[in-house]
Amino acid sequence: MGSILKFIIINSKNISWESNQLFVFLVDKNYKSQYFKKWQSLTGNNINNIIEKSNFSFKFGQDLLVRSSINSILLLGYGETRKTNLDYEKLGGILFSKIDKLKFKEITIISNLDVSENKQNIIISRLLFGFKLKSYTFLKYKENNKRNGLKIENIKVLNKETKALNQHLSLNANLISGIFFSKDLTFEPPNFLTPEEFVNQINSLKKIGIEIEVLNENDMKQLGMNALLGVGRGSIEKSYLVVMKWNGSPHSKNKIAYVGKGVCFDSGGLSLKTPRGMIDMKEDMGGAGIVVGSMKAIALQKVKRNVIGVVGLVENMPSSNSQRPGDIVKSMSGKTIEILNTDAEGRLVLADALHYTIKKFKPNFVIDLATLTGAIISALGKERAGLFSNDENLSEYIFQTGEKIDNLVWKMPMDKIYGQKMLSKIADLKNIGTPEGSSIQAAAFLQNFVGKTSWAHLDVAGVVWSDLVSEIHSGGATGWGVRLLFEIAKNNYRF
Ligand code: BES
Ligand code: ZN
Ligand code: ZN
Repeated sequence: MGSILKFIIINSKNISWESNQLFVFLVDKNYKSQYFKKWQSLTGNNINNIIEKSNFSFKFGQDLLVRSSINSILLLGYGETRKTNLDYEKLGGILFSKIDKLKFKEITIISNLDVSENKQNIIISRLLFGFKLKSYTFLKYKENNKRNGLKIENIKVLNKETKALNQHLSLNANLISGIFFSKDLTFEPPNFLTPEEFVNQINSLKKIGIEIEVLNENDMKQLGMNALLGVGRGSIEKSYLVVMKWNGSPHSKNKIAYVGKGVCFDSGGLSLKTPRGMIDMKEDMGGAGIVVGSMKAIALQKVKRNVIGVVGLVENMPSSNSQRPGDIVKSMSGKTIEILNTDAEGRLVLADALHYTIKKFKPNFVIDLATLTGAIISALGKERAGLFSNDENLSEYIFQTGEKIDNLVWKMPMDKIYGQKMLSKIADLKNIGTPEGSSIQAAAFLQNFVGKTSWAHLDVAGVVWSDLVSEIHSGGATGWGVRLLFEIAKNNYRF
């Protein structure tokens, strides 16, 4: 539930200086004071004098608000050192937080930096992306669910060039739609976002051209997906597997696939979690949330590639019908799995979801995303997702893309020895190994279900939720990964 903020590009002729609005000037030390001429002649102020008398020193994110009876201006410091795209986004977030508290009815943003047109477009578009990201709120369950900050729907942006910037802005808007959708899903409480409701939410993507196929429990039984079905057995909620298809390149056979763990609530099952361990477990559908959010962004952007999104949707609950530690299930691949801990359920859902996806669609490569292990949070904190892969090229590509757009990952090892820990004495596999290195063992378990297909697994347990407030994040569901999958689909890697 982001705000409905829209940005409108205007040129200098369309500025109405006399209206009681806020003009935001992005400035560095080399600002051109003649740029303020109109404002100065209207208000009788001299910008150089005002800056001299203040302690404003153009530092990154520093601001100076100057009110006059006619209108007001906010100087926003750009700093001196070279900036990354992420810095521009942060600056946008900082700007949002600042003006969210001011009660202006109209706002115009003006960049006053001495840069090329191309650079200017990048700065403005990244800045507005961060601005919009920071505006996200989840207030659905509040009695007073209106934001009490910024009420403006349209923010004007002064820019000479329109066409290229508009393209940037429309890509931003599509991506933000996907990110906000993913955040909404992860924020939703588990009594609302049951597997069935998750299916309803996904069905809303039909109207933007995504083909959707829903497999119910009967369909899955016929396909032999007993690993996935076993997880949902203890819950009164029905399990589903949903396939989303974006056919952006209908004449090509090439396609990529994203697979997400959608455990709408993970109580642990009979291997019940502690109260503390259960608190965050509505976010155990985070992997599926990333897949669905990215599919939305990809379809809105009409990306020219074929992308398959698959999510396994279940609830993991204890009951007299739950699967037991000791049970052996036969997965769709034919491999049998001895269940020794019902809380290691994500890998069971993915075992069937991955096998099905690869068998049915034969993708060029597949990436799965799952809040799979608590151990990945111990290893990497909440800063990076764990990346496991059977393909060094794909892995490097994901790593580099993540660095570029700040969805950070870290490559983890996949030595054979980890896989050996997952072999059962009486079945082909068991679902837990030893307590040490359990994130890697979980990845090694998954590898049994991908055959020779290029595959990468992202353990996103640490990154889908963060209570740390930053320039572009106000706490809660992060939307992490949507942009990563969007970029990977958009670029021509392996095609
Ligand atoms: N959903 C959890 C992993 C998790 C933990 C995600 C904390 C987010 C925050 C997963 O299903 C799980 O319970 N994994 C177990 C595996 C263990 C039993 C081998 C874990 O990590 O403890
Ligand atoms: Zn679990
Ligand atoms: Zn889980």
